[in-house]
Amino acid sequence: MATRDGYQKTAWRKSEKCRQPPVFFIVRNIFTTILNERCFTHKFKIMAYNLLKGKKGIIFGALNADSIAWKVAERAFEEGATFTLTNTSVALRMGETAKLAEKCGAELIEADATNVEDLENLVKKSMEVLGGKVDFILHSIGMSPNVRKGRHYSDLDYSYLDKTLDISAISFHKVLQVARKLDAINEWGSVVALSYVAAQRTFYGYNDMADAKALLESIGRSFGYIYGRERHVRINTISQSPTVTTAGSGVKGMDKLLDFGDRMSPLGNATGDDCADYCITLFSDLTRKVTMQNLFHDGGFSSMGMSLRALEQYEKGLGCDCDCGDAGDQDHLYD
Ligand SMILES: NC(=O)c1ccc[n+]([C@@H]2O[C@H](COP(=O)([O-])OP(=O)(O)OC[C@H]3O[C@@H](n4cnc5c(N)ncnc54)[C@H](O)[C@@H]3O)[C@@H](O)[C@H]2O)c1
Repeated sequence: MATRDGYQKTAWRKSEKCRQPPVFFIVRNIFTTILNERCFTHKFKIMAYNLLKGKKGIIFGALNADSIAWKVAERAFEEGATFTLTNTSVALRMGETAKLAEKCGAELIEADATNVEDLENLVKKSMEVLGGKVDFILHSIGMSPNVRKGRHYSDLDYSYLDKTLDISAISFHKVLQVARKLDAINEWGSVVALSYVAAQRTFYGYNDMADAKALLESIGRSFGYIYGRERHVRINTISQSPTVTTAGSGVKGMDKLLDFGDRMSPLGNATGDDCADYCITLFSDLTRKVTMQNLFHDGGFSSMGMSLRALEQYEKGLGCDCDCGDAGDQDHLYD
């Protein structure tokens, strides 16, 4: 298992310049320049403040390096937390979660978040491994078989809809109910789930995930009341900008949604890294009185009606015989 010290030692060893030949530095400098360029916007934010020092948690939903949960895990580790990572057996087989676990010194525990027995096992094992109750939980789970199979919102398969709601929303209730029954969260602990603005407004192509997100946010409020009153545990949802991830790529017209979001938001879209930073503040002691909220983390998008940048782009399309990219005639019958 990797430790924080192990990390520092590795970094230190890498900095022993004198033993490397000059060509090594040239190649390394080229790579570093490219990497710094790519990470420029996030470069200043990855300072660690020890905001989660001594805190323990459970993180659901890290599939690969694009996953929002993956980025949260990396930031939580940097901020001094210890945690377990969990996902379904298929995701653990197909994804790259084991790499993340090694990097963060985290135990991987398999659980289908729709299965109460799996959740009980996960929570009990996490308390065993971490040596006590947890302080934070991240629910970063979403999937819609209707979206995956291309079913239109006016022609839903209802057994798929049940699955969408169970995986993407009711699993949040199951996590909270299991945690509460096992008394698994410390006083003033924090639980966060990820949502999207389609819970409040209609977005073309978001399909039954919009209904799931509305339910998810409602569960956050209802359980937030009970858990807050009884044990001062706070529960919030973060309504995140469109983000390029495996789940995100399933949304119809994702590239246009990203562009539209970016043009509409005065601060631009919030990235997965930005979202991870925000999650850390909600897990920290700095937000102890924030609960039962759906918190928009979208560069201002949710408060906008129209921006000049979006309007200018729209004007470019006026008068043209609209061929909306990958949306065929069939789609326009409904939309
Ligand atoms: N990507 C976006 O544009 C965007 C925007 C707003 C909110 N969100 C939300 O963020 C969350 C994380 O998604 P992401 O974008 O990081 O994509 P992702 O595909 O990386 O993560 C989704 C995760 O859900 C897991 N999952 C699916 N079914 C599960 C089950 N039954 N039990 C346990 N885990 C299960 C998957 O294995 C995967 O790890 C989701 O709730 C998503 O709706 C995403």
